Amino acid sequence: MPYLAWSDDLDTRIPELDAQHRVMVQHINQLQAAAASGEPEPLLQAMDGLIECLREHFIFEEKVLKMIDFSGFEEHRQTHDAILEKLREYRTRMETASVAEAEELIDTLGPWVVDHIRHDDLDFGPTVREWLRDAAPPDDPFKQLVGDT
Ligand SMILES: [Fe+2]
Ligand SMILES: [Fe+2]
Repeated sequence: MPYLAWSDDLDTRIPELDAQHRVMVQHINQLQAAAASGEPEPLLQAMDGLIECLREHFIFEEKVLKMIDFSGFEEHRQTHDAILEKLREYRTRMETASVAEAEELIDTLGPWVVDHIRHDDLDFGPTVREWLRDAAPPDDPFKQLVGDT
């Protein structure tokens, strides 16, 4: 049983974003497994992997939001920045954390990431899908990148 399981209520129904979100959840599961092993080096590597995955995902998602001229863009971008800042702070704390402390940090950061998908990313799903359906030309390269819905 993974630490965090994917559930259908996390689907934005935008293929590329959903694929990236699933990888994010896998990273959190790897992070939890690394913490449970009690080895500091894999834990910090897993944390670096999660941070890098989120950083790249946020860049991609912000491009999508800009493309559709999403009204909540600025607020959404600020939330991304705040999540990354918190994760970097947690990464520093993990350098000296016990197994129990590291697991506690993960129990806090896991829900941030999942709640961001569930509550914030799902907000723009309909607008992006509408754009892909009605506004994007069939050969639009971005449409191909995001995935046809
Ligand atoms: Fe996202
Ligand atoms: Fe987001």
